[in-house]
Amino acid sequence: MGKIRPLYDNCLVSCVIAADTHIDIKHPQPWLPQLLLKRALSDSTNARTKQDAFIIIGDTTSRGDDVNWGLTEDCFKKYPAPAKEIFLPLGNHDTWNDDGYDSAIDCWRRAVKTICGKAPERQYFSADVNGFRFVFMGSVGDVGDMPVLGEEQLAWLDGELAAGTADGRPVFVFNHQSPNGRHGLPQTATAHPEPDIDPAEGGVGEESDALEAILKKYRNVFYFSGHSHMGFCGERFLRERGFSSFEEEDGVALFNLPSNACGNHSGENNRNCVGLVLEIYKDNVVVRPRDFLLHTWFGKVPVRDGKPYFEKEY
Ligand SMILES: [Fe+2]
Ligand SMILES: [Fe+2]
Repeated sequence: MGKIRPLYDNCLVSCVIAADTHIDIKHPQPWLPQLLLKRALSDSTNARTKQDAFIIIGDTTSRGDDVNWGLTEDCFKKYPAPAKEIFLPLGNHDTWNDDGYDSAIDCWRRAVKTICGKAPERQYFSADVNGFRFVFMGSVGDVGDMPVLGEEQLAWLDGELAAGTADGRPVFVFNHQSPNGRHGLPQTATAHPEPDIDPAEGGVGEESDALEAILKKYRNVFYFSGHSHMGFCGERFLRERGFSSFEEEDGVALFNLPSNACGNHSGENNRNCVGLVLEIYKDNVVVRPRDFLLHTWFGKVPVRDGKPYFEKEY
């Protein structure tokens, strides 16, 4: 046991990040994903220093209807202030609803208003967290597993990155899916790899190249995704298999989170109820795997140079 506390002194921002909590009334035991979300919420709530943000990178629900969002709200009622701000961007499952995509977005906006205090006007939005820009992307249409980002959102992202990085500061992008082919995709998109799997499987899909081109235009971009339900992989997998949950490419740092609730696969360690703590300092960023279930740092996967965390100067 041990409360969340910054690795170094003078931490400017500290955030708890989870993904794919999959709250689901149709789960064989609906209380289980709720319990696992509540473990993440209690870990954040009990942090030594008040967390600046609590973020779930999509698939908060397994189906975006009022019943599942109601179960989600119940968890947050028990822990209403896990951080100064709460952000719940969309995942593909959150856009699925028996009455269609528009109805799912309505349910999401209602729940976000209740849980976070205000509903975003669009499926994508940004926030200033202690002077750092956090960018939350979301699908503007339903095509299944992959998002529709659209030209308007991509142009908006370009502007957000330009403004947020203008003075040399890092920007933090949260999008449910990773760019195609990273973090071992497409094979790590499934527990049962297939020889002729679509190269875009588990990723952003058709708009991945356009997204990557924008991310790579700027220095100090940190990009967080979930979706594939891949267990945490560190430097051993990077060395032996060429992929990790913690990757860097042309100056962009890419992080992929396991599912908080569902059976993870393809990783060095496939535990659930784990996530990340993001710490921003004056000159560097630290990203630390966290065991929400046991309320400890997750040291089972060496990330860099034998250390259980990622660190990068900006
Ligand atoms: Fe998911
Ligand atoms: Fe997903």
